[in-house]
Amino acid sequence: MSITGPKKKQIGVLTGGGDAPGLNAVIRGITTRAISLGYDVLGFKKGWAGLLGEGEHHVLDLDEVEDIHMMGGTILHTSRTNPYKLDDGVEQVKKNLKKYKCDALIAIGGEDTLGVAWKLHKDGIKVVGVPKTIDNDVGATDYTFGFDTAVNTAAEAIHKLHTTAASHNRVLLVEVMGRHAGWLTLHAGIAGGAHVILIPEEKYDVAEICKVIRRREEAGKYYTIIAISEGALPKDGDMTLQTQEKDSFGHVRLGGVAEKLSKEIEELTGKECRHVVLGHLQRSGHPSAFDRVLGTRLGYHAAEMVDKGEFGQIAALRGEDILSVDMKKALGELKIVPKKRYEEAKVFFGIES
Ligand code: F6P
Repeated sequence: MSITGPKKKQIGVLTGGGDAPGLNAVIRGITTRAISLGYDVLGFKKGWAGLLGEGEHHVLDLDEVEDIHMMGGTILHTSRTNPYKLDDGVEQVKKNLKKYKCDALIAIGGEDTLGVAWKLHKDGIKVVGVPKTIDNDVGATDYTFGFDTAVNTAAEAIHKLHTTAASHNRVLLVEVMGRHAGWLTLHAGIAGGAHVILIPEEKYDVAEICKVIRRREEAGKYYTIIAISEGALPKDGDMTLQTQEKDSFGHVRLGGVAEKLSKEIEELTGKECRHVVLGHLQRSGHPSAFDRVLGTRLGYHAAEMVDKGEFGQIAALRGEDILSVDMKKALGELKIVPKKRYEEAKVFFGIES
């Protein structure tokens, strides 16, 4: 006589969009908690692309995920694939979830990945989301994982640049990631001692920036560090684009604002200017202890949400707790830097209002 236990249920997991330090901690949190609840976990590769065609996946086990929370990147790989932009894309996703017997799916990603997850949920797929972005701009959550690591990386770079800027009496502009929200620039700028912080939420005035540089010179400080978000805009202009080409979610590639502003400041002040683009360095490397813990907790709770049937929801940090929050609500609110937070910071970097 063969004894068979109850048939195990299966959860699919994928990571989509730009990577963020802490993704592996979330994967580990999901896998460990889901297995303890009696599920098998299937990891789909390269975001939504792993659910297209024949599907690309493997079973995640405790051995594979044991130490991954300390590693950056994502063991599942990622992409910016949008199944809703492909002929038959959604049908392929549904077909593969059925073929591989996934009772539910956990999508870890930013507004794009979660936007797809929400549409699939409306189409009848059981989906739970985990918000991810180093930009920290997802509504309904206090902090997204990856942000803390990126702040530390950018802050260290900004801090380091003081020595070369001071030695050469130069203005040094540091371009920080952040398309629509300046959280990363604000936090890294304060922590790294930037003298001017420019974010997408507050249009900048080059004349005001030059005043700060001159005021510093009058005080005997012959160098200035400017932290600027890639999405920062001049008071009478637009965002600086690297290319007009759009990805499958309709995003253009930003970049070049530090270089542009550096030339303008050089012309107006006669001071030597240099710029540094921190770029993907900010998303790279090992996650901070904070992100390892946050990612682990988010993963743990996402698995529990599947078990409780809380679909169409995301796991979100609110205060000390991880809560289950409506996915649509979270997607509807881009969390930008409030005016009062910028005003607070301005006292330290001295742009006059
Ligand atoms: O969405 C996070 C982010 O890091 C943005 O700050 C940045 O504009 C973008 O990703 C860069 O994406 P990619 O990896 O496609 O160059």
